[in-house]
Amino acid sequence: MTEQWVEVATIDELPIGKMKRVEIEGHRYLIANAEGNIYAVDDQCSHEDISLYLGCIQGENIKCSLHGSRFSLKTGEPLEAPADEPIGTYETRINVKKVLIKTRKKP
Ligand code: FES
Repeated sequence: MTEQWVEVATIDELPIGKMKRVEIEGHRYLIANAEGNIYAVDDQCSHEDISLYLGCIQGENIKCSLHGSRFSLKTGEPLEAPADEPIGTYETRINVKKVLIKTRKKP
């Protein structure tokens, strides 16, 4: 598994409460500013294949629009049913107003 830092947004694109989705090498990522912290997670619910971008940020969680499970943006863990598997989380950093995420890809 190799890792790489990839620029995904400018900080101006992500004011508090905003999300952006990006696709990198066929993988969908959701970037979110929740309460001033930038998070990156899979843009796919672990319950069914639906974009979490269609949901909404609640505190530091993301709520799926289909059946309502919330996931921690920090840990990826589901907070209630029906989802029972975590979503992937990715490190983020800000470098001169640019948002980067650490992606993982299979060799
Ligand atoms: S598809 Fe997300 S909770 Fe069911």
